[in-house]
Amino acid sequence: MTPAMTPAVTDAVTDAAPILFFDSGVGGLSVVAPTRELLPTAPIVYAADSAGFPYGTRSEAEIAARVPALLGRLVERYRPRLVVIACNTASTIALPAVRAALDVPVVGTVPAIKPAAAMSETRVIGVLGTEATVRQPYVDDLAARFAGDCTVLRHGSAALVELAEAKLAGTAPAPDAIAAELGGLFAQPGGGRIDVIVNACTHFPLLEREMATVAPQVRFVDGGAGIARRIAYLTQGHAWPVAAPAHRLVFTRLGERERRIADALAARGFVAAEAL
Ligand code: DGL
Repeated sequence: MTPAMTPAVTDAVTDAAPILFFDSGVGGLSVVAPTRELLPTAPIVYAADSAGFPYGTRSEAEIAARVPALLGRLVERYRPRLVVIACNTASTIALPAVRAALDVPVVGTVPAIKPAAAMSETRVIGVLGTEATVRQPYVDDLAARFAGDCTVLRHGSAALVELAEAKLAGTAPAPDAIAAELGGLFAQPGGGRIDVIVNACTHFPLLEREMATVAPQVRFVDGGAGIARRIAYLTQGHAWPVAAPAHRLVFTRLGERERRIADALAARGFVAAEAL
């Protein structure tokens, strides 16, 4: 018998293949952090659509057209083992289209209404997201399925997204500005009884300390830890580098603002930023 001339075809993922995290800006870092706790040597490519930022004030049609196309280019360039849409706005609008377009597993980020409902004693929960996220039928569906006996109040905040970006670039948020945004929930009828707030935008956990100072009576939940567990589950048995490699940072527009963010992230192991 002649030995086979072609090398064996294998599905094995090389240890250098990254996990690709995608968001409009820095919010996805709130998903990266718990993931790194579970998978400390996983190579990471963090992609921020800075040219499209912010997503929360865009239309469904814009997000639906933009996100699958961008992720297609990112997957082609970085060949990730897994894609994480670390953005509630993009996930609640475009997750099925992204999954259909890519040939790698895709994990989305959707509002953590189920755990919030499980925690609430007053049965009044707040959902704080972008304007685009809080109006999605996907959120109606989550509320009906998992919080049917709760009053679910929603507020969309573009200001909190900006405050989170500014904080990462070095500007501490003013407590009054945080209070004003939380007021968008508390001032609604029944809002005074909210005991759990879902941070339904990945930018918002980056401000959790500040929000907890302004609203100490409330507990905050987000999807970060659950997504990290899902990523670990989907990559079970994969090969990983022995030591944490340098992570990559990609922007769709690389200007002054992005360079400041890149400087701030250098301490977290992200090497110099590149443009898509
Ligand atoms: N971080 C994003 C989210 O989870 C969106 C922020 C924005 O660009 O408006 O929804």
